[in-house]
Amino acid sequence: MNKPFNPHNCSEDWLSNDFLQKKGEFAYNWASRSMTIIEKIVKKNIKNQPLTGLKVGLCLHITKETSVLAMALNKLGAETSICSANPLSVQKEIAFHLANNNIKVFAKPDETVDQYHEFMHRVLNENPDIITDDGGELHSLAHDKATKSHKFIGGTEETTSGFHRLKIIESKSQLKYPVIVVNNALTKHLFDNRYGTGQSTVDGLLRITGIFLPGKHVVICGFGWVGKGISAILKGYGCKITITEVNPVNALEAFMEGFNVCKLDEAAPIGDVFITCTGQIGVIRKEHIEKMKDGVFLANVGHFDVEIDTEYLYKHDPCHKEISENITCFSLDQKKVYLLAKGRVLNLVGGKGHSSEVMALSFANQLLSIVYLSKNHNKLENKIYSVPQEIDKMVADYALGSYNIKIDKLTKKQKKYQGLLK
Ligand SMILES: NC(=O)c1ccc[n+]([C@@H]2O[C@H](COP(=O)([O-])OP(=O)(O)OC[C@H]3O[C@@H](n4cnc5c(N)ncnc54)[C@H](O)[C@@H]3O)[C@@H](O)[C@H]2O)c1
Repeated sequence: MNKPFNPHNCSEDWLSNDFLQKKGEFAYNWASRSMTIIEKIVKKNIKNQPLTGLKVGLCLHITKETSVLAMALNKLGAETSICSANPLSVQKEIAFHLANNNIKVFAKPDETVDQYHEFMHRVLNENPDIITDDGGELHSLAHDKATKSHKFIGGTEETTSGFHRLKIIESKSQLKYPVIVVNNALTKHLFDNRYGTGQSTVDGLLRITGIFLPGKHVVICGFGWVGKGISAILKGYGCKITITEVNPVNALEAFMEGFNVCKLDEAAPIGDVFITCTGQIGVIRKEHIEKMKDGVFLANVGHFDVEIDTEYLYKHDPCHKEISENITCFSLDQKKVYLLAKGRVLNLVGGKGHSSEVMALSFANQLLSIVYLSKNHNKLENKIYSVPQEIDKMVADYALGSYNIKIDKLTKKQKKYQGLLK
């Protein structure tokens, strides 16, 4: 068994816990049940073992759905190691299950930020051929390493923020290997970012605060795929919704969806709950917090914990209190402000993350993209690639199949009409 690295060399009791072993196995089986697409892909490829001889380094939230992807990679022949994409998103029983199944786990529940960085280095020290990241952090580190000792054959990226980071590296012609951005597949962001994050954000919010949502005024910063998903679900709960945006097209779309759209400056005094999902830095700042009402909740769902100016909060109230798990109370002048999940991804830290059903789509794209890289890396340049259209379509077909949904096909006449046949 590859035991998770333990930086403090302290007791590894949790690794020999029968209960955790059963819990991890159950969680894996439970997720697999809703991720039959992954099973189908494995069945189709298992005979050829396309990943034999390849090492895959994963940097993903360590959830039951990730365990299904990691185990699938191993079944197709890869040697897999994993660290967490966020210091607070390591589910203990899953780390345990993976470590018991020939996956090198470099992660600890509640790891510190230093440990989180150290674990990424540990994954790179395994000399992976392919890097699969969520947020672009491991890709950035891999770029330092690639210059020195090791050549990577390719990578994949799970999320919007990681894509933006890679775009910066590519624009300086510094990309050292081809990267397929899974986030940009239609069968990823239309479903995972929108419906997946929408549902799991509300789940996280309710688990942490237990607030009564009908009638609450929720301010959502960012009306991209994630913002659209969260607002749609909260609308169903009877919340009043205000959207803040910097992109006029998305702002107009939010307006036509029936939402109030204004500057954050104007929204600050009226909101009860504020949720950032922009992928940007410093969205909710001192000047906004100063205008907020007593008792507001601040939460972030964007990938990094940089959207809310938490530095201002900690500085302004050094005596802040953890009043409950994942709620930090700041006393600012005459009012209290509650920061949820320390400003880190609310749906993963406070909730259980996306449901397996929607993660099946994202991870089917990941798995097929990794297999694609293993076969085609020699033909690819050091550039950012979209998921090949045939993979995107295959994932949609598999998903419809898993729901037992059949759809119509274009007739010959229709194909001719559309110019697809002569
Ligand atoms: N927590 C999760 O499970 C999860 C899942 C998917 C994506 N994400 C992350 O959520 C973030 C958003 O992802 P997305 O797919 O919606 O991206 P997106 O690019 O579709 O949307 C982001 C939106 O934010 C807007 N925006 C940018 N700066 C802003 C500002 N200062 N104020 C208001 N709006 C602003 C942009 O105009 C855009 O419309 C990213 O960080 C992404 O990595 C998190």
